[in-house]
Amino acid sequence: MIRFSLNGETVEVDASYTTTLLDWLREERGLTGTKEGCNEGDCGACTVIVADPQNRDGLGPKALNACILFLPQLHGKAVVTVEGVSKPDGALHPVQKEMVDLHGSQCGFCTPGFIMSMVNAHLHGRTDHDAALAGNLCRCTGYAPIVRAAEAASGVDWPPDWLVEQLGQPLGDKALPIVPECSDALAQWYEANPDATLIAGATDVGLWVTKSLRSLEKVAFLNQCADLQQVEVAQTGQIRVGAAVTMQAFLPHADLIQESYGALVRRYGSEQVRSAATIGGNIANGSPIGDNPPPLIAIGAEVQLRKGDHRRVIPLEDFFLEYGKQDLEPGEFVEAILMPQTMPALRVYKLSKRFDQDISAVCGAFNVDVVDGVVSGARIAFGGMAGIPKRATEVERALLGNPWSEVTIRAAMPRFSDDFSPLSDMRASAEYRLSTAQNMLLRYFHDLSGDLVGVRAVEA
Ligand SMILES: Cc1cc2nc3c(=O)[nH]c(=O)nc-3n(C[C@H](O)[C@H](O)[C@H](O)COP(=O)(O)OP(=O)(O)OC[C@H]3O[C@@H](n4cnc5c(N)ncnc54)[C@H](O)[C@@H]3O)c2cc1C
Ligand code: FES
Ligand code: FES
Repeated sequence: MIRFSLNGETVEVDASYTTTLLDWLREERGLTGTKEGCNEGDCGACTVIVADPQNRDGLGPKALNACILFLPQLHGKAVVTVEGVSKPDGALHPVQKEMVDLHGSQCGFCTPGFIMSMVNAHLHGRTDHDAALAGNLCRCTGYAPIVRAAEAASGVDWPPDWLVEQLGQPLGDKALPIVPECSDALAQWYEANPDATLIAGATDVGLWVTKSLRSLEKVAFLNQCADLQQVEVAQTGQIRVGAAVTMQAFLPHADLIQESYGALVRRYGSEQVRSAATIGGNIANGSPIGDNPPPLIAIGAEVQLRKGDHRRVIPLEDFFLEYGKQDLEPGEFVEAILMPQTMPALRVYKLSKRFDQDISAVCGAFNVDVVDGVVSGARIAFGGMAGIPKRATEVERALLGNPWSEVTIRAAMPRFSDDFSPLSDMRASAEYRLSTAQNMLLRYFHDLSGDLVGVRAVEA
């Protein structure tokens, strides 16, 4: 039986493991304040706050999209919906009051989702309202009054004791076999059930259910495996990032590797998506347009795989075999990713149609070593250019041993067509992808030379 706390009340649910929180709230509980907009994690209308009273990832309560959150992901946790944010005496939460006073709502469809993102930011005492609200879309009010309301509510009635209490109540629940609490239990279960689908953040798998209407017979959830959520420094000096570390938890580590990696992670979906999506899921899904593989391949990351008690470590670039095929045996899963703590020469460039909350058309990562003005090492990796994330080995060859100069760069640029034959799709044409990849190499050269190359460098 799945147990969690909902707006302060403990609930027990006996439902299909792939019932989404949104459907359950609206259809079974009649809590229709939480809205369905896109049903695929894109609009934020369904935002709720979820806290793990054990605070396994150390980040505290988070705003999540209920439309791609399965009920077992909530086992032992505390959920607050828009119906549960007002004060015990019925008075409005400060963000609700300011949204009314400052005209933050017109049709109101997006409003509960905004309220939840704002309540979560208020709870954490945050003032980076643009970042906190980037995952919430409003079609009619415009963002200025909403951000004004968030600013006006900042620090009022803080800390909000009534929410802190609701979100911190320990339920003391036993682990369910399909929601194991450590990787040993997961490894044992998965080896015995190799036909099952593992679900980490469900930001991919959620869409298989809500959009492709797939029914998943056998599933197991990774989000309560405490050890898979840790980042540690290994004896080798590398950092070992557990597969279930979310993109939001990984962000400070990406910043330390190189700030362009941090900037990439900040543009990864929205805060609601980053707070669910895991680094392991982003690799295991084998997507050719996942954002982590290019920078991780460029810095020489390795992936640790585990089946039962047997572990093996392989270079990440060898994990991707061909489109849709990864080097994973039945019953084997991604346990951790090993990577250097810092890589000053790394640069990552993401090209997408929208700046925020969009999947890459092309993502290029560059890591070139220059000794005495000559290229002594080069690792260049791309997403969006082939059926898998892939190194540009011919381009690297054209750079190696040559002077680090614009002449060398321009001579290497045509080699991209030896490395890649990209597809045309709704995100970009093949020609555009090729020429943009070439230009990214030139951008890298200027970037390392200290020139302004950021896409926002011309902002007033
Ligand atoms: C609105 C939205 C925006 C997005 N934006 C971006 C973006 O900007 N950049 C980007 O790269 N992606 C983006 N994505 C895609 C998605 O968020 C990522 O691919 C994410 O990292 C997947 O991780 P997850 O934990 O949610 O995986 P899940 O959905 O839980 O699982 C994905 C796949 O990996 C498998 N899996 C998960 N963990 C493991 C493991 N440890 N071992 C073995 N198999 C495992 C699952 O079985 C499944 O096949 C977006 C998705 C949405 C819905
Ligand atoms: S309904 Fe759009 S994000 Fe959930
Ligand atoms: S108030 Fe109508 S979509 Fe935001």
